[in-house]
Amino acid sequence: MADKGGLEGVVVARSRLCSIDGQNGVLVYGGYDVGDLAEHSSYEEVCFLTLYGELPTKEQFDAFLSDLSGHRALSDETAQVVDMLASHAAPMEMLRTAVSSDSFDDPDKDSNDAEANRRKAMRLIAKMPTMVARYARRRAGQEPIAPDPALGHAANFLQMLTGERPSPAAAKTFDVALILHADHEMNASTFTARVIASTLSDMHSAITGAIGALKGPLHGGANEQVMHLLEAIPEGASVEDEIRARLDRKERIMGFGHRVYKTWDPRAVILKRFSRRLADESAEPRWFEMSEAIEKTVVGEKGLYPNVDFYSASTYHYLGVETGLFTPIFAMSRVVGWAAHVIEQHSDNRLIRPSSEYVGPGPRSYEPIERRSQAA
Ligand code: CMC
Repeated sequence: MADKGGLEGVVVARSRLCSIDGQNGVLVYGGYDVGDLAEHSSYEEVCFLTLYGELPTKEQFDAFLSDLSGHRALSDETAQVVDMLASHAAPMEMLRTAVSSDSFDDPDKDSNDAEANRRKAMRLIAKMPTMVARYARRRAGQEPIAPDPALGHAANFLQMLTGERPSPAAAKTFDVALILHADHEMNASTFTARVIASTLSDMHSAITGAIGALKGPLHGGANEQVMHLLEAIPEGASVEDEIRARLDRKERIMGFGHRVYKTWDPRAVILKRFSRRLADESAEPRWFEMSEAIEKTVVGEKGLYPNVDFYSASTYHYLGVETGLFTPIFAMSRVVGWAAHVIEQHSDNRLIRPSSEYVGPGPRSYEPIERRSQAA
């Protein structure tokens, strides 16, 4: 196969964390099928599995849960950073900056050993939802809502965001969405985190860089673009015609295609079920109906299948989440995968430093500026 760039097919690490079978649409975390975890587990249990390599015993899980919920509150300094950014920074700019500044008062900031890194990971997993919810409420001119230790990770986030206790069904849907985004092998943001960790830089630097990589519309930023696409199609218009016109103009349809999956992304299969169920209960079934019509058109015209970002958009929309928070929510979940990859990188490290092929001008001699005639 001719090299199309983008490190396609290049193995850059040996990992015990997560594997993908792109031909058959299978995603596995530490040996467990993601569908099995989505049905029976919780985001917190998946965090334990990702950070420790095994599912917890009851005793281990109780201690883990109390540790995690104990870290949800932000320090005064980080709360001030979030408040300051709420007036003028976009959501991913806020998250990138708040996560970066959260290292200033982290008691383990000078250590890269595995236990210190796990403690930093726990604090970031616990605090990122509080950052996102606080920012969203401040931006809307509302008072922040304190974390509730009686609630699980997903329900607590929705309550901090909306001010209302979510229904068990909404909390379960959101919990499954978090499970589905927790890790994904050597995706661009995880690779970014591993490159940063490979210089023996610290956890917060790696996660900050990963957030920057996730923000792009070819990666995690695609979920927001999917919602913008749905909103851009006028009510009553033919979805098929709208999508065909975009494809004719060689536009990319966000939420479709994948470097590894050559069939349905298994996460999209699960999210489609949730989106359909929420649509059935909603006064606005059109978001799901339009999504399904787009799916049929893109699969039929291009043979490209939905990825995780496609049906997560309508699912979050039905849960009442504003579009600008979709990618921060992706980051809030993926932080556990990034952190586990940082720990793995530090445990068997060699600097990641690939090469490039030079295709620039040949040797030439320096011209003093007054003798240069050619503009760049
Ligand atoms: N819509 C239209 N055409 C597409 C799309 C799309 N979504 N995705 C790929 N193609 C076409 C592309 O134009 C190219 O055609 P041609 O060979 O004629 O130039 C061909 O398919 C191969 O594309 P590629 O960019 O070389 O493939 P890749 O493996 O580098 O790209 C991708 C993977 C995800 C960047 C790409 O499929 C894409 O841009 N999708 C839309 C953005 C998106 O949904 N991103 C989320 C990815 S999954 C979750 C996550 O990581 O966040």
